[in-house]
Amino acid sequence: MTIAKAHQIVVIGSTWGIKNTFHSFVAILATLLVITTIYLTRDRGEEKLSQKINVSIESLSSSKCDLFSGKWVFDNESYPLYKEKQCSFMSDQLACEKFGRKDLSYQNWRWKPHQCDLPRFNATKLLERLRNKRLVFVGDSLNRGQWVSMVCLVDSILPSSIKSMQSIANGSLNIFKIKEYNATIENYWSPLLVESNSDDPVNHRVPERTVRIKAIEKHARYWTNADYIVFNTYLWWRRPLMNVLWGSFGDTNAVYKRVEMLRVYEMAVRTWSDWLEVHVDRNKTNLFFVSMSPTHERAEEWGATKGDNCYKETNMIAKEGYWGKGSDPKMMQVVEKVLDDLKTKGLNVQMLNITQLSEYRKEGHPSIYRKQWEPLTQEQISNPNGYADCIHWCLPGVPDVWNELLYAYIINQ
Ligand SMILES: *[C@@H]1O[C@H](CO)[C@@H](O)[C@H](O)[C@H]1NC(C)=O
Ligand SMILES: *[C@@H]1O[C@H](CO)[C@@H](O)[C@H](O)[C@H]1NC(C)=O
Ligand SMILES: *[C@@H]1O[C@H](CO)[C@@H](O)[C@H](O)[C@H]1NC(C)=O
Ligand SMILES: *[C@@H]1O[C@H](CO)[C@@H](O)[C@H](O)[C@H]1NC(C)=O
Ligand SMILES: *[C@@H]1O[C@H](CO)[C@@H](O)[C@H](O)[C@H]1NC(C)=O
Ligand SMILES: *[C@@H]1O[C@H](CO)[C@@H](O)[C@H](O)[C@H]1NC(C)=O
Ligand SMILES: *[C@@H]1O[C@H](CO)[C@@H](O)[C@H](O)[C@H]1NC(C)=O
Repeated sequence: MTIAKAHQIVVIGSTWGIKNTFHSFVAILATLLVITTIYLTRDRGEEKLSQKINVSIESLSSSKCDLFSGKWVFDNESYPLYKEKQCSFMSDQLACEKFGRKDLSYQNWRWKPHQCDLPRFNATKLLERLRNKRLVFVGDSLNRGQWVSMVCLVDSILPSSIKSMQSIANGSLNIFKIKEYNATIENYWSPLLVESNSDDPVNHRVPERTVRIKAIEKHARYWTNADYIVFNTYLWWRRPLMNVLWGSFGDTNAVYKRVEMLRVYEMAVRTWSDWLEVHVDRNKTNLFFVSMSPTHERAEEWGATKGDNCYKETNMIAKEGYWGKGSDPKMMQVVEKVLDDLKTKGLNVQMLNITQLSEYRKEGHPSIYRKQWEPLTQEQISNPNGYADCIHWCLPGVPDVWNELLYAYIINQ
């Protein structure tokens, strides 16, 4: 298993790559749902014409346009949105090209919702939105990958003098700071959201998973007051039973019990939602939850050779609605139910429903093209299948699209 590998985040001292050229391609005009409004603003006596693209959040999230239902379109004109080598903060776990991957078409796919187009990602526009604000990604290594993607998406337009990377709270919180905008894009490690014995951001590979089911404040104090928070939790729950702890770690009076996972997952998501309900400033904080990221570890699921996995895959799955066995709809329903309940209490958490769109992308994983932390054994070398990472995603790649979806919500709020 590769989930728990020590992560590789280069801290401080970024390099200013070749100036990025975001191709200014106009995807906007095509959609019925996009209304372009031109309005005038007075700026120091000068009349300035600005163009505002008005995609209301209602039109994005309502039945009129389900952003998460669509198809992948090959688009090597506009994608990738940044170059792997030019991103100062790329993670070696996700840098597939650097580690030898030759087929790079996984970088060239645009997500096209059936009933509309996604707004084109514009880093400047996002940073204007994030001025004096904090955007925090909270969760596991998939969420961390999405954070790296977001950093790369904005990194390319920023000279090195105005940005920095900082790590605090024993490495649990990594902060990408953009001085000129007084904005931060952060990542907080808490793979099970509630407290657990996997909370160390580096040494968290423990055979037995234990969650302190009622406790989240140790983590939450780092993100409660952020302006945008993007949560996830899924991967670390994939086992039939979990150890549940009532009381504190190390407390002799603490009670431990082994409980069926789905039940524990629900308790944890409830602890999280109770925290949000009480502590989140509804006027300030925008909340998102990223649904399960699918894995492609069993090739027989998509009709390929039994025993194989995502290694050597270069095409996506064509079958509409393909859903792998690794993605548990029951867990998704738990989250949906909890989010519905929060809504009745006036707290809106937007689900970024990325599971289906990512299910197709069996070719988007690093497989063997990433930094290997321990020297490979002879056995591994002769059997690349055995150590392929079919969980995380190459960058540039699928998580960029998750961020484009997030972007669509942020700029329309
Ligand atoms: C990106 O956004 C900025 C600020 O809103 C705007 O000035 C610029 O024209 C946009 N770029 C493209 C390519 O649309
Ligand atoms: C955007 O659209 C909404 C409803 O369609 C409208 O109420 C609002 O005034 C529009 N905003 C701008 C800036 O045009
Ligand atoms: C895009 O792909 C097409 C077909 O594979 C190829 O002919 C073209 O040169 C590519 N364009 C770019 C910019 O890579
Ligand atoms: C900078 O951003 C933080 C939030 O991240 C905010 O609390 C602070 O007031 C901002 N500083 C200025 C000078 O606006
Ligand atoms: C950092 O780790 C040390 C040793 O494990 C611990 O004593 C300390 O409380 C931790 N600090 C934070 C902010 O978590
Ligand atoms: C949120 O904003 C509303 C309307 O502006 C205001 O009535 C309310 O007191 C605010 N709530 C908080 C918690 O600040
Ligand atoms: C997310 O997508 C799946 C499959 O596309 C769907 O079954 C589920 O209802 C969606 N959930 C939400 C909250 O939109």
